[in-house]
Amino acid sequence: MTPAPAPVIILGATSGIARACAERWAERGLPLVLVARDGDELARIGADLRVRRAASVDLIARDPADAAQQGALAEDLRTRVPGGRCTILIAWGMLAPQAQASADPALTAELIRVNFTSVATLGERLAAWLAAGSVLCVIGSVAGDRGRASNYAYGAAKAGLHAWLSGLRHRLFRAGVAVVTIKPGFTATPMTAGMLKVGSPLVSSPDRVARSILRACDRRVDEAYAPWFWWGIMAIIRSLPNALFKRSQL
Ligand SMILES: NC(=O)c1ccc[n+]([C@@H]2O[C@H](COP(=O)([O-])OP(=O)(O)OC[C@H]3O[C@@H](n4cnc5c(N)ncnc54)[C@H](OP(=O)(O)O)[C@@H]3O)[C@@H](O)[C@H]2O)c1
Repeated sequence: MTPAPAPVIILGATSGIARACAERWAERGLPLVLVARDGDELARIGADLRVRRAASVDLIARDPADAAQQGALAEDLRTRVPGGRCTILIAWGMLAPQAQASADPALTAELIRVNFTSVATLGERLAAWLAAGSVLCVIGSVAGDRGRASNYAYGAAKAGLHAWLSGLRHRLFRAGVAVVTIKPGFTATPMTAGMLKVGSPLVSSPDRVARSILRACDRRVDEAYAPWFWWGIMAIIRSLPNALFKRSQL
């Protein structure tokens, strides 16, 4: 008998990028478990995915970034994955204008909590039971590659996240668990509404980013820019000497 396909768990499932990933995984006929804090929106997404080809769609209305709920959430997820083999996508995140964060230390702390601390604390709980063959895929950002004046609180949180994922990947390698870091560039989702130049070749659709995410999970790559061309852009930005970089408008 062919074994049942391993489930895909999406945390922060109301994100624009996460939805596009869920649609693609549903079309492959995989069982999905979706977690998000907005239960009404989650129900709408679940209904849409059920009319695609998903084998099953389970919904969990919880805030995955809330430390107080993470122990129960990780345990709930463990019981839904017999054998511990699955693909997990962590997609939640928040962005705020740097000027607001600079004027409000509480907002800076919240950007770091939502984009880094909460992912690390839940990630450790999930890593405790993930079995060989699993993939833990987390959405970071090109913003984490170099701090820039326009979004360095968000970028610093993503940089911390990238370093944490690198360490987790190192630890889980021998256990056969792949840790995949995705670094999207500008993507047209609610997070960036009104902030991006419509029609710019640098702005991607959530579906284009989702394609990169599924490919990276399938190939169990360590890190992937999404789309791939951000690799070249960020290589140039990272290599600029500080004397030039600090005078630039990047
Ligand atoms: N869009 C881009 O240009 C871009 C670029 C690089 C990286 N990323 C990253 O891609 C990931 C997905 O973002 P997206 O572009 O798909 O944005 P999105 O559509 O705005 O989704 C953001 C997600 O994060 C959740 N969220 C927001 N604030 C939260 C909070 N304080 N506590 C808990 N959950 C919260 C949202 O939940 P609700 O629906 O309940 O609000 C939603 O599920 C994020 O990690 C983001 O940093 C995005």
